[in-house]
Amino acid sequence: MPNVLIISGHPALSQSVANRAILEEIGKALPQAQIRRLDSLYPDFRIDVPAEQQALVWADIIVWQFPLYWYSAPALMRKWLEDSFTHGSKGTALHGKKLILSFTAGAPEAAYTHEGFMGKTMEEVMAPFAVTAKLTGMQLQPLVYSAGISFVPGDADPERLAAARAIAQNHARRLLAAIEKAA
Ligand SMILES: Cc1cc2nc3c(=O)[nH]c(=O)nc-3n(C[C@H](O)[C@H](O)[C@H](O)COP(=O)(O)O)c2cc1C
Repeated sequence: MPNVLIISGHPALSQSVANRAILEEIGKALPQAQIRRLDSLYPDFRIDVPAEQQALVWADIIVWQFPLYWYSAPALMRKWLEDSFTHGSKGTALHGKKLILSFTAGAPEAAYTHEGFMGKTMEEVMAPFAVTAKLTGMQLQPLVYSAGISFVPGDADPERLAAARAIAQNHARRLLAAIEKAA
């Protein structure tokens, strides 16, 4: 099995439903994967760049697991990216590695179409990451995402919570399949 690195970009997993559930499922199914929870590692946003670069070099398959915030990754994950990817197009350390973008979004699936509210598909929204993968020599895999999953912390409605968990479990299954395909 190749080395699987999962970077969790959620800024507060303790308040997460979807990302936390996805990470739990993946952790159980792939105990040998390295899961780096940026919110607990770097609550002060001070990224340990050598440690992150070491993890990236070790990995064959890199998963970015995050909630979609303003059509991008949360600030913590962007900080991780800006600090760790120091060599730009001159670097070779990431060449040939597989990158899987695995994320959750609050707006419904139908919003992410040309006819829908956003007027853009998820592939179009993720264009900056696709170019990042290309520039750094990584092979971007098909997106794994779940739309329409937004559970506000403190919401006590058990049906909404159960629905969010079910979407997260389905997401985890698709992510596992994507990892297996990339292996
Ligand atoms: C600051 C912020 C920005 C968000 N921006 C978007 C967005 O651009 N598009 C979208 O569909 N959902 C957006 N959402 C909804 C989140 O993507 C959604 O709540 C999250 O994926 C649920 O995952 P979690 O339970 O792990 O927190 C946003 C939520 C927050 C808090």
